[in-house]
Amino acid sequence: MTVYSSGPAAPATKRIAVIPGDGIGKEVIPEAVKVLKAVAAASGKKLALTEFDWGANRYLRDGTTLPADAVEMFHRDFDAILLGAMGDPRVPTNVHAADILLGLRFKLDLYVNARPCVLFDKRFTPLKDRSEKDVNFIVFRENTEGLYVGMGGFFKKGTADEIATQEDLNTRKGVERIIRYAFEYARKRGLKRVCMADKSNALAFGHDLWQRVFKLVRAEYADVEASHQYIDNLLMQMVRDPSQFQVIVTSNLFGDIASDLGAQLAGGLGLAPSGNIHPGQVSLFEPVHGSAPNIAGKNIANPMGAILTVGMMLDYLGWSVESRAIEAAVRAALAESKTPAELGGSLGTRETGDWVANQVLKTGIAHV
Ligand code: NAD
Ligand code: IPM
Ligand code: MN
Repeated sequence: MTVYSSGPAAPATKRIAVIPGDGIGKEVIPEAVKVLKAVAAASGKKLALTEFDWGANRYLRDGTTLPADAVEMFHRDFDAILLGAMGDPRVPTNVHAADILLGLRFKLDLYVNARPCVLFDKRFTPLKDRSEKDVNFIVFRENTEGLYVGMGGFFKKGTADEIATQEDLNTRKGVERIIRYAFEYARKRGLKRVCMADKSNALAFGHDLWQRVFKLVRAEYADVEASHQYIDNLLMQMVRDPSQFQVIVTSNLFGDIASDLGAQLAGGLGLAPSGNIHPGQVSLFEPVHGSAPNIAGKNIANPMGAILTVGMMLDYLGWSVESRAIEAAVRAALAESKTPAELGGSLGTRETGDWVANQVLKTGIAHV
């Protein structure tokens, strides 16, 4: 899944921070790390992995969420971060997830949330009469502002007169850089279509800005066909005819929603990778799915999304051959139904990871 071309110019050894997090994050990340180690062994390249125990357990034990020096440490000591998921029913406020996951997105200024929706095998899409060529697009979600900035508050909380506000923050700079990234991505990859989705018919200030910036930026990319859809229509169109999309760019909340839908069109949430990126800087990679408490601890979670996430991370770091080897091994597993139940197979989480890692070791990297 080659998605990037502009990772940091790092030394030969890649320094990866690993944060398994909560729930199935703690099950899928070890499998992704297994595959990461296998591909490094197959290529003879060097990794330095450092694990962090941040998540609900740690928070409940000693109150730690994102340590004060974390951002500086990641900039200084790491090339990338691999994260599982944050979220635990014992922390109903979700404060640790806000501090760690959203905190890293904001504080590392990871403004691109890249979420590819690529159908590897038509058996896996719930759409009738659709095949691999129909579901092959990427959602670029603005990742540092919008409704996620946590501005707002309560007035008269808990009373019958309560007021709650949640600000939708859109900056000229923030909107422009994500739209520009989408066009640059399309141009570099020879893709023809970029669709921007907003709700400017109702959100007359914030999304008016999206409209105006989109018009300015699209004028610089005459080689790319630019279109616009309101977000409600876009989600319907993704189901009706996903083949019309190559690159979708949208706001933080809309991108969150569109990427879960896109993941399912491409075979399931458990198969979907993602990257939180600031081009040229330490960036964070995580599967699209959450901690799935309903299936945690049972060895049934699908680790393929986490494994493909490692592929995205390595591509970002310039290990493009190794990234392709991981994708090839995942494709082989899907073709042979060496998958968990989510994809119709009978393997557990660990057994799926073992199979993909062995496949990487068996075939090496020379064939990709
Ligand atoms: P979820 O993604 O955890 O699960 C949604 C559904 O998909 C569940 O039925 C789950 O069993 C299934 N599913 C998810 N991943 C799967 C996998 N790998 N294999 C098989 N099935 C899988 O979303 P949710 O239930 O809305 O949220 C649960 C918790 O995770 C919440 O605390 C939420 O805030 C958090 N969350 C975290 C992240 C993240 O850290 N990036 C992302 C989404 C949700
Ligand atoms: C995601 C998740 C997060 C988000 C949650 C856990 C805050 O759903 O990464 O898609 O909404 O961004
Ligand atoms: Mn989400």
